[in-house]
Amino acid sequence: MTRLTHFREILRYVPRFRDRAFVIAVDGAVVEDENFPNLLLDIALLRSLSIRVVLVHGAAHQVRKYAAMLNMTPSDVDGTGITDRETLQVAVTAASRVTHEILEGLSANDLRAAYPNALVAHPKGILGGVDHQLTGRVERVDVGQLLTLLEHDIIPVVPPVGCDGAGNSYRLNSDAVAVEVAKALRAVKLVYLTTEGGIRGPRGVVRQMTVEEADAFLKRHKPDLSPVAQTKLAHAVRAGKEGVERVHIIDGREQEGLLGEVFSNEGIGTLVYANEYQSIRPAQKRDVRAVFGLIQQGVRSEELARRTRADIERQIGDFFVFEVDRNPVACAALIAYPAENKAEVASVFVDDRYANQGIGARLIRYAEEAARARGFAELFCLSTQAINYFVQKGGFRLGTPDDLPPARRERYEQQGRKSQVLVKPLMPPSTAAVAP
Ligand SMILES: CC(C)(COP(=O)(O)OP(=O)(O)OC[C@H]1O[C@@H](n2cnc3c(N)ncnc32)[C@H](O)[C@@H]1OP(=O)(O)O)[C@@H](O)C(=O)NCCC(=O)NCCS
Repeated sequence: MTRLTHFREILRYVPRFRDRAFVIAVDGAVVEDENFPNLLLDIALLRSLSIRVVLVHGAAHQVRKYAAMLNMTPSDVDGTGITDRETLQVAVTAASRVTHEILEGLSANDLRAAYPNALVAHPKGILGGVDHQLTGRVERVDVGQLLTLLEHDIIPVVPPVGCDGAGNSYRLNSDAVAVEVAKALRAVKLVYLTTEGGIRGPRGVVRQMTVEEADAFLKRHKPDLSPVAQTKLAHAVRAGKEGVERVHIIDGREQEGLLGEVFSNEGIGTLVYANEYQSIRPAQKRDVRAVFGLIQQGVRSEELARRTRADIERQIGDFFVFEVDRNPVACAALIAYPAENKAEVASVFVDDRYANQGIGARLIRYAEEAARARGFAELFCLSTQAINYFVQKGGFRLGTPDDLPPARRERYEQQGRKSQVLVKPLMPPSTAAVAP
């Protein structure tokens, strides 16, 4: 993608995000990474688009380092275990250092920032018979304080330490802090920047999951996930269940990772989304560019027949798209041949980055239901490289050019692609309803 198109993509989102909050949770190790100055530039861009940014940071990496310098073994590093008095001192020093480093970086980018005391904390208490001592949990977020800063164009930088009303400090887990801050501010996005990137499943990084899918994934794959992935996903699920609509888990060391993930389909991480929006919808005029882009990918690999942009503009009413976070990532068309009582499912294309996640199957099912609802007796399609897919996953059988409506057959001969014809008889809805 050229920079200019990139910029256009970004601008598309501006009305939706203007004056809404993004909570960006940075692991301590990411702050020390060489990509951190790039992240600060990305944050400056978000600010210039009137997106309110709150930075929450961790300090586990620095706690380890600082403790090693002191030749001591901390009782906990990330605010989840038991924090004894000495470890709390190390954690407060390490966290303050990280906060300061972030403040320095932000001011180098002409961004005003401040360290608020916005977390009211209490001891985590005795869990399973174990006293967690000075490890705390967030009791309340002082939203008024954060909003005052945001309204004055100041980025709050929130460390993983909180105080109670009596002036005692507690070590907090930054992933949990980020969830509480995002909830309190009704943030539109919570972004975890880690040193590992998206959540890996058996087939590579899972690009998107609903909260329910993420919950099930966590239960099924917990033993295979790294500790970092486990905590990020668990917190993403909790945030989703408690009202944060979008949680991204991305690699903070990846250049353009942040902007790529939150503003386009080009990201590299995992999105956990909460609201059950309809993923498939009929395409509209504004989708012409996205649909054209998807089909071009298929044309390049000779999987799809050529279509000009003008063709797509004319036929956009036949298309439907599968969208993730409002971005079309796959498309298909249903073309009616009323005289023959048949319909064609055409131009099925799933962006490579979203392959093998059941999207193709859902598009074909959608086309099938739509064709059935319109009373067509048969669905057909033409394929060069996904023949087995339509047979094995879609329940189509091999057909011949004789199965095509005459007008379609004529075009088939002209195109000379020698695609395989595939056919699926459709049962009327009433019969389908009683079928076993
Ligand atoms: C074919 C296509 C739609 C599949 O989409 P998808 O969302 O990745 O597929 P799903 O997640 O629904 O299904 C994945 C399964 O199908 C299999 N599969 C994917 N593409 C396949 C192909 N071309 N041939 C045979 N099997 C295929 C996968 O191996 C996987 O199998 P498994 O479940 O046994 O592990 C997609 O690869 C695509 O866009 N292809 C290019 C365009 C095309 O050929 N369109 C058809 C002409 S209209």
